[in-house]
Order: sequence, then structure tokens, then C-alpha cells
Amino acid sequence: MNKTINILGIETSCDETAAAIVRGGLGKSGELLNIEVLSDIVSSQIDIHKKWGGVVPEVAAREHVGQILPVLDEALLKAGFKKEKAKEEIDTIAVTVGPGLITSLLIGVETAKSLSFAWQKPVYGINHIEGHIYANFIARQDKIVFPALILTVSGGHTLLALMKGHGNIKTIGETRDDAAGEAFDKAAQLLGIGYPGGPAIAAQAELFGNSGQKNPPGAIKLPRPMINSQELDFSFSGLKTALRYALENDKHWKKHISAYAHEFQQAVVDTLIHKTIKAAQKHQVKNILLSGGVSANRTLREEMKKEINDKISDCNFYMPDLKYTTDNAAMIAAAGLFAHLKERSSNWKKLRVNCTLEL
Ligand code: KG4
Ligand code: ZN
Repeated sequence: MNKTINILGIETSCDETAAAIVRGGLGKSGELLNIEVLSDIVSSQIDIHKKWGGVVPEVAAREHVGQILPVLDEALLKAGFKKEKAKEEIDTIAVTVGPGLITSLLIGVETAKSLSFAWQKPVYGINHIEGHIYANFIARQDKIVFPALILTVSGGHTLLALMKGHGNIKTIGETRDDAAGEAFDKAAQLLGIGYPGGPAIAAQAELFGNSGQKNPPGAIKLPRPMINSQELDFSFSGLKTALRYALENDKHWKKHISAYAHEFQQAVVDTLIHKTIKAAQKHQVKNILLSGGVSANRTLREEMKKEINDKISDCNFYMPDLKYTTDNAAMIAAAGLFAHLKERSSNWKKLRVNCTLEL
């Protein structure tokens, strides 16, 4: 008879307190048949951090403390589990152990350890980037063929990785300075259009694209950093500086905010696509996956799909459902499901926060 396992995911690495319950359907030999998200609760602190233009670690930690139990209760309730029966319903736990803000990570990890001890259930420490990657496996784990190339673009990371199998993911290129999401956030600050910067820039860029306007006189042109280099690394801090100089040299920039946002977004998107195609050709992968908060960007999603179809004909492209692009706990639970099936270490006493954890 087929079995199922229910896994509770917890994510508190930055400014989102999240809990989710994910169910893995197992076949006769223990193989994973499907991944179903029973509940996915995210309590965002964006409105609180907005006034500072970025995440304030101490404030984030205090918010996590207040939110973690209500978020957990809601995840159990939405999944249809009674709180007092949680011990019987949940088979295992997965929690983000890094990378991230240490004060934020600790809240999720200590909660997971306590539950693991109280319920006597295994707990898996998940790398946050691995979690973003596993967002792609929700509802389609059987389709992805290895080796796969993954572009992870978030507020803290921008990297290309080669995935040869579950638990076998190697970084082959990364940013030397700012992450793509960080670049979006800083550019939005320069343009005075709010936080978080990614959605703000994307909205302005869309406005410009839909207006049918052309670049204003003195045509705005920003660099595509490292696009001609043979390496698979990225660099985005120069792009942000180029935007700053362009604004300083244009007395009327406030009249052209949407044009600057459009060009900035295009510079980031062009660079990400170019490097991804180069890496895919070099490593002859059959699948390309996109992940991380910046993968919510519509232009990136659409143009990446088109370029891969045009340039690498026999390669499939996957991206997560929009709701699993930015931080959430369903992706952490999905990664935990594979850790469980691979029988990774699961003793709560061994669980440690590592804010600079690498893939
Ligand atoms: O993965 P994520 O939620 O958190 C980290 O792990 O960092 O990513 C957050 C980042 C932020 O920098 C935000 O500006 C960016 O993702 N982001 C976007 C969009 N939505 C979120 N960037 C570009 N376009 C978007 N639509
Ligand atoms: Zn993230």
C-alpha cells in the first residue's frame, strides 16, 4: 500500500515568519510520487521594515518571537490538523539553519528543536538556498532530469549551481559583490520608489514598457556587468554605481524614473540570462531551474523562457509558482522531504544555526 509522510517546514531566516505542512506521497519502494502543500503560512514584516529602507535585525528577531507560534497554529489549522493531535499527524520537521540573519534564524531553529524533542520526531536542518531550489520540485519532482542548472537570485544571493542529484548541488558561479535582489533594492532607494526594491522597479519598468515611450533624450544606457567575461560569476555593485552617476548627471531624472527603472531591470535581466545560457551550454544540462525572490520578476521569467527555447532547443525550463518564489516554508518542507528520504542526520541535539552556510 502507498504511504504518505507529513512534514512541517519552518522558515525564519530574514523578515518572514513562515510555517507550512507538506505531504509527500510514497510508492511501494519508498519512492516519492508527489508533493502536496497542505498549508503555507507567511507572516511578512515588510511593512515594519519599510520605514528604515531595509531589514533591522533586532526588530526582525522580536517580530519572529511574537509570530512563530500563531503562524505554526495557523499552518496546523489550515492543514486540517488539531493542535493537540499534531504529534500524531506530523512525521518529521524541517527548518532553515542558514544562511541568514543569526537572530532571525535562531527563533525558527529553537522552535523546531523544541518540537522535535517534545514530539520525538526527526528534524532536518535545511540550507535556505537549497530550499529556494526545491520550490521547483513542488508538484513536479518527477519531471526534473539531472544534471540540472539552477539560477538562484534573491536578496542575499545570486548564484549558478549544478545539481547532479538530491543532496548533490555544487556552485559554479556567484556574485562577487551585491546580489541581484540587493541591487534592485539599492536602485529603488536611489530612485526613491520604496522597499522592497524588486517589485517597485518592476512596476515602474512595466509602466514604461506599457507607455510605448522611448528612452528620453540623452538615451539612458547602463552597463551589463561581466557579460563578456568567460567566467560564470556576476557583479552588480558597478551597475548600481552606474545608475547613481547617471542620475547625478541628469537634472531632470525625476521626470524619467520609469525609464531608468526599465533600463536597470533590463541590465540585470540581460546579464542573468546571458550567464545562465553560457553555463547551460558549457555543462550540457537538460534542465534549467530558476529560484529565489527575484524569480518573481515577470520580465526575467518571460525572457529567460524565450531565450532558452530559442538558444538551447532540447532543454526544459522550470520556475517555481509565483507564491513559492519569495521566502516561504513550503520550499523548506519540500527540501526536508528529500533530506528525510535520503536519511540525512536528524537529531535535534546536532542542529546548529550557521548564518554563512554555503551550498
Ligand atoms: O528570496 P527572497 O524572498 O529573500 C532572500 O532570500 O533574500 O528575495 C527577496 C528579494 C528582494 O531583494 C526583492 O527586492 C526581490 O527578491 N524581489 C524582486 C521581485 N520580487 C521580489 N526582484 C525583482 N522583481 C520582483 N518582482
Ligand atoms: Zn530567500
